Amino acid sequence: MLRKKSGSIAAVILVMITLAAFGFSNTYSPDKAYKDIPTPLVKDSIASVKAFEKVYTVLMSPRCVNCHPIGDIPLQGDDSHIHKMFPKRGADGKGLYAMKCANCHQLENTTGPHAPPGAPNWHLPPANMKMVFQGKSAHDLAKQLVDLKQNGNKNMKQLLEHADDQLVLAGWKPAQGHSMPPMSHSEFKKAWTAWIKNGAYAPAK
Ligand code: HEC
Ligand code: HEC
Repeated sequence: MLRKKSGSIAAVILVMITLAAFGFSNTYSPDKAYKDIPTPLVKDSIASVKAFEKVYTVLMSPRCVNCHPIGDIPLQGDDSHIHKMFPKRGADGKGLYAMKCANCHQLENTTGPHAPPGAPNWHLPPANMKMVFQGKSAHDLAKQLVDLKQNGNKNMKQLLEHADDQLVLAGWKPAQGHSMPPMSHSEFKKAWTAWIKNGAYAPAK
């Protein structure tokens, strides 16, 4: 009887120690993890490249490419044709003269067929940092995304946060009749985070 009791007390203590140890070592929170960037905790080039392959399919989808064109005029629609009425980038990316992007692109989508999609501060990247996606290979795009001189001077923490940028999120609220990116925003964010946290490796050329 006594043996059994002390045995169960020992078991309870053991469980408590285990819980305490697990509790202390398991203080993970997204904010803390961000602090570990730009030196990722684990560098895993295979996991990183695999995650980027998913990321790349989103970046190259019309919802993203249309605002990341080679030229100085945005693209439109699922076939990424040149924007009607040819609004130009301008130095700040917000359009020129009477063709300011925000004149037509409101804070939210305008309803109706061929109505402009909207989000706050709708614009292209600026002229001195075009952040072109159109036509880029996965190798070249991955390199560009982490290059401070080409990505708007974003460090790894800022790049991670960019997954929730309002213009990125706008990709998942397409205007009427336009397709969605090839995966959900949460899947994209998961792949984006895995790519960066595993070392932001570029796929082979
Ligand atoms: C309305 C136009 C617009 C749309 C749509 C858009 N972007 Fe952008 N994107 C921008 C602008 C402007 C910048 C630069 C501003 C900044 O750096 O915050 C940018 C910057 C970026 C950057 C950082 C640049 C770099 O090289 O690291 C990434 C990554 C990005 N966009 C991803 C996306 C993804 C993914 C989508 C689609 C789901 C998307 N964008 C859709 C306008 C857009
Ligand atoms: C005169 C009004 C007008 C101006 C100015 C304008 N747009 Fe548009 N934009 C539209 C309309 C309308 C559509 C939708 C066309 C359609 O779906 O047929 C559109 C569509 C787009 C799309 C396609 C979205 C998608 O997901 O396919 C992008 C990208 C875009 N505009 C970016 C811009 C940018 C960047 C600027 C400023 C440099 C700008 N637009 C200026 C009216 C305008």
